[in-house]
Amino acid sequence: MSELDGKRIFVTGSARGIGRAIAAQALARGARVVISDVDVDAAEATCAALDAEGTANCDVTDEGSVQAALEQAVGILGGLDVLVNNAGIEVASPLATQSTESFDRIFAVNVRGPFLMTKAAVPHLVESGGNIVNIASVAGLGGSPLLGSYCATKAALIQMTRVAAVELRPSGVRVNAVCPGFADTSMVDRLRPDFESATQMPFGDLVAAKQGRLGTADDIAEVVCFLASDRATWVTGSAYVLDGGLTASLV
Ligand SMILES: NC(=O)c1ccc[n+]([C@@H]2O[C@H](COP(=O)([O-])OP(=O)(O)OC[C@H]3O[C@@H](n4cnc5c(N)ncnc54)[C@H](O)[C@@H]3O)[C@@H](O)[C@H]2O)c1
Repeated sequence: MSELDGKRIFVTGSARGIGRAIAAQALARGARVVISDVDVDAAEATCAALDAEGTANCDVTDEGSVQAALEQAVGILGGLDVLVNNAGIEVASPLATQSTESFDRIFAVNVRGPFLMTKAAVPHLVESGGNIVNIASVAGLGGSPLLGSYCATKAALIQMTRVAAVELRPSGVRVNAVCPGFADTSMVDRLRPDFESATQMPFGDLVAAKQGRLGTADDIAEVVCFLASDRATWVTGSAYVLDGGLTASLV
């Protein structure tokens, strides 16, 4: 029997990057997966490429859209065992010069989004004894220049993970987070030039020095699949660091 045999999984922001890898690995482990993204065309293409169960697209910041997508996914899957809150955005800006609109926007996607998704999913997860995996970041554990608002959103997501885990423990629902370092996706491609000008160092050298190599979306999907599975039935409230040692070192 495969690790996620028959598990019904909804992954936000799964048209590309880490979300797509989570969907692909979950499917390979026997899960039934619904793809969801604000980029509808890319989500449809990913769903077809992976031969996933279907799509239920939404903008995670919009409560009506979230509720409708979640109900659509439950309709397709016949219930829900796992919610993966993966959709997220980055902003590279010093805090002191960041616009208030961009600060509000990153909190809307990275914090309000998982909050709305969690509220919509919990009744179904209580019914199935399911679980939630939140894609946070090492940026929620330590500071980084240019990523002030991003770091704050990921710290908030880690804290929401912990509180939801404790609040939902009596109902049998587990809630965990993963905290990746830099991984090879379009998000890091967008951040690369800003980091190079801020650190005056080639990005590849920075990554090699701090975390050995760039992570892959599959490195992260491996651990997400474990947390989503029944192999992790005593794991809740955790924030798993996946960073090649980035946060382990002081130098
Ligand atoms: N790549 C990294 O190095 C890294 C490291 C740590 C954490 N993360 C986190 O992993 C998650 C996935 O990041 P990625 O690197 O794959 O990024 P990505 O930009 O490659 O993909 C993100 C996906 O989320 C979707 N999305 C954005 N806003 C949305 C919204 N409002 N509603 C629904 N979908 C939306 C995008 O369309 C895109 O398909 C994010 O939460 C990110 O913060 C990434």
